[in-house]
Amino acid sequence: MKCREDEDVAQIIADEKALRLAVKKAARWADKNCGSETVAVCILKGAAFFFCDLLREMTLPVQVEFLSVKSYGDSFKTSGNPRLGDLSFSVEGRNVLIVEDIVDSGYTIQALRTAFGALGAASVKVVALLDKAVCRRVPVQADYACLEVGDEFLVGYGLDYAQRYRTLPYLGVLKPEIYR
Ligand code: PRP
Repeated sequence: MKCREDEDVAQIIADEKALRLAVKKAARWADKNCGSETVAVCILKGAAFFFCDLLREMTLPVQVEFLSVKSYGDSFKTSGNPRLGDLSFSVEGRNVLIVEDIVDSGYTIQALRTAFGALGAASVKVVALLDKAVCRRVPVQADYACLEVGDEFLVGYGLDYAQRYRTLPYLGVLKPEIYR
């Protein structure tokens, strides 16, 4: 069904069917590679949709936490200094699975790996829907990424521009005239 936000999308790069398949594969990877006592941490807000779909596909029981992290705000560029929200839940001695929508510059997962390591996590793994390796500024990577993408501005399935487009059920390239 068409909605007004569809009009701002130049091209769909992963439709609902492709996303479902990608999520299933990520769930099989997570089932195999996350140990017992895993805490899955959803990095808000972008990863919310991927997180819920992924965890419902996984057969491994995990505990669920949500963490607010802001790097971009409504800006087009990373601040380079992600602000982490409430880290008061316990990860000591547990395996942490960070669930991200996208690894872009890499500053966010770098900060998260450091923070969870310092809090005594037994292991820290990152599963991301998207890997934008071409934009990386620090040498970090996800342990598993569903899709490698180029340097386009992507929206939908959790990803936003100025808090819009997150609820589109597909991943699409935003028309440049919207953000230029
Ligand atoms: C986005 C995205 C990742 C992060 C990746 O979050 O959801 O968490 O940026 O970027 P990086 O690799 O360059 O650090 P954002 O700060 O836009 O917040 P949001 O998820 O609420 O949109």
